[in-house]
Amino acid sequence: MIKYDDKLKIFKLDTINTSYIFGLDDEAGYLCHYYYGKKLESVDVRYLSRLYDGKYLPGVNARDKNGFSDVAPFEFSTGGIGDFRPHALEIIDKNGSIACELFYDSHRIYEGKEALTGLPATFSNKKGDVQTLEITLKDKILKLAVKLSYSVFSDTDAIVRSVKVINEGSDSVNITKIMSLSLDLDNEDFDLLSLHGSWGRERTMEYRDLGHGFTGVSSQRGVSSHQEHPFIALTSKNITQTEGSVYAFNLVYSGSFEAVAHRNQFDLVRVLLGISPYNFKWELKPGDEFIAPEAVMVHSFKGLSAMTTAFHELYRNHLIRSPYLHKKRPVLINNWEGTYFDFDTEKLVNIAKEAAKGGIEMLVMDDGWFGNRFDDNRALGDWKVNEEKLPGGLKELVRRVNDLGLKFGIWMEPEMVNPDSDLYRAHPDWAFEIPGRDPSLSRNQLVLDITRQEVFDYVWNCVESTLKSANIEYLKWDMNRALCDIYSAGLPADRQGEIMHRYVLSVYKLQEKLITTFPEFLLENCSSGGGRFDPGMLYYSPQIWTSDNTDAGARLLIQEGTALIYPLSTMGAHVSVCPNHAMGRNTPFETRGNVALAGTFGYELDTTKFTDEEREMVKEQVKTYHKYNDLVREGDYYRLASLRENGVYDAWMVKSKDDKEILVTFVLANKVCNVKGRKIKLLGLNEAYKYVDEETKVVYGADVLSNAGILISDMWGDYQSKLIHLTKV
Ligand code: GLA
Repeated sequence: MIKYDDKLKIFKLDTINTSYIFGLDDEAGYLCHYYYGKKLESVDVRYLSRLYDGKYLPGVNARDKNGFSDVAPFEFSTGGIGDFRPHALEIIDKNGSIACELFYDSHRIYEGKEALTGLPATFSNKKGDVQTLEITLKDKILKLAVKLSYSVFSDTDAIVRSVKVINEGSDSVNITKIMSLSLDLDNEDFDLLSLHGSWGRERTMEYRDLGHGFTGVSSQRGVSSHQEHPFIALTSKNITQTEGSVYAFNLVYSGSFEAVAHRNQFDLVRVLLGISPYNFKWELKPGDEFIAPEAVMVHSFKGLSAMTTAFHELYRNHLIRSPYLHKKRPVLINNWEGTYFDFDTEKLVNIAKEAAKGGIEMLVMDDGWFGNRFDDNRALGDWKVNEEKLPGGLKELVRRVNDLGLKFGIWMEPEMVNPDSDLYRAHPDWAFEIPGRDPSLSRNQLVLDITRQEVFDYVWNCVESTLKSANIEYLKWDMNRALCDIYSAGLPADRQGEIMHRYVLSVYKLQEKLITTFPEFLLENCSSGGGRFDPGMLYYSPQIWTSDNTDAGARLLIQEGTALIYPLSTMGAHVSVCPNHAMGRNTPFETRGNVALAGTFGYELDTTKFTDEEREMVKEQVKTYHKYNDLVREGDYYRLASLRENGVYDAWMVKSKDDKEILVTFVLANKVCNVKGRKIKLLGLNEAYKYVDEETKVVYGADVLSNAGILISDMWGDYQSKLIHLTKV
């Protein structure tokens, strides 16, 4: 999969359908990028870098080295040496200079993939499924080694990259910018696709023109964020699911990031993806190394669908470690929208009792069970059971819930503290606050400085002792505000620029401790809905709460954007009441269920308030979940139609890997009067097969389903939906 041509000095990385080629451009040893696209047989594509006309080569035309630096497609771009495009690495040396120039030193190719210390990263699952190339570049003046790692996989078209910087000198240097990925491409009339959002409407697909200069997205919030996502893609104009070209990039990181494409005077496009340089400065002492988070690249020349498949395969096969990854998750009832803070043991037990009748398998007690937490103004940090609400404590409540045949899960927000809490009163210096300044509160809370060992230990002890105090089998780990007022008493003034990244590393350390201490646990991450839904967190939890917006209509767009890169099995999705608490909209109970089936599936309401009809429907929905979840979780997902594009309806399908089963979900969001049936063409089928529709018993050739489509009759009303189950005959 990875080849090095010693004579030509070319590295060729082949995935199933793509090739990625770069090499040493002249004797000097600059590493230059040549090609990324459809798989090639040819190796010698050096002419593509345009450097072989000799015009710019520094060895040939030293008079105009700058002309070279500003156009060369550097495999890993650096600052201060005449490349005036944005670059991947900025180092300040002892003289205050930012110049860094990297030349090839050595490389190795090996089977498997090494872990990235302290960071989430993809891994090999079995012998022979991953190969890695590590190239060492050096700046001899700075005495700096930069190791670029590339891994390719036998089962997905994704390539992953990471960067390690090692200070081999005797003076400290500061890293002020380090991108995990730098990629120079020729503009092909690209659009830039990003996943824009907000609280309640996370990850909505958005296209824009790739003009000259910068186009991109970033988060400076200390989390990957609701607003922008650590993902961009360059697509050909009017790309569809099956036609057009796309280069997609995703960062395995949960903090502030930057994802930009820069189009220069020659229509060369440089893509950069990595930790945000905002408020970032990292001191690298002699002998120290810094590891930048992993970046994922996917190229498809057959539209968005193949890109989606590549990400899904990578994340399911090589990123998510949870033992629940390939298991059905228990159907849960979460009391948040049902009760908010107003609950006690009796109320929860009654909710569980009703839930049990419908076949629901777990009760999750959300926010409000600890300290003086009667609203969201106080008590974060005081992780002691409120016995006024829960007499007899967690043990008693969990025992009663277990007696009903339900498992028990709990909510915590370990990274936070309210000023009105015993914890803050005892340790006011444990929260991020800048000396002399009033900190900006958000939801009346502050962020604990878990980069400090004593704070980290306190937080971990709270999590561990809570989870050990009763038979708890699931944790919803929440995080409800962004980071600002960054100052840590743990580091000197000139190292405060390390805190934002150290914070993320500490979150990872906590999550690592959690899953190693409680390996059988089901962990769901959450951040005011989907504010930290990213591949970094998926390394620790098999599912993430997708959005606080549980409205089935809004979820169509949110789940479309999320499933563009993340497997359906990762999307937390619940049925809630109407009018919906985030939208005020009414949608049929059945549709709420059908939309939630595309995720982990559960309920978020007060089951004691069910109507008789709803009570019966829950039983049906839970049965439907059990019937289809193996398929939804393990199958191949295809987007068939998009409400975002057509304004009327939405459709997707999942096909089992063995081609035996297909589930199509269709939602008519906005009814149009007097429309006859609609034909929805299925994707990814082997056209030689035949399928029978379970409901109508009609047998279709897969060629017809693919090229003419399945007929969906018109429906009566908005937000009507339908599941179509097809099995191979
Ligand atoms: C966040 C979560 C919600 C809920 C509340 C509790 O907003 O996204 O699901 O847990 O916190 O305060």
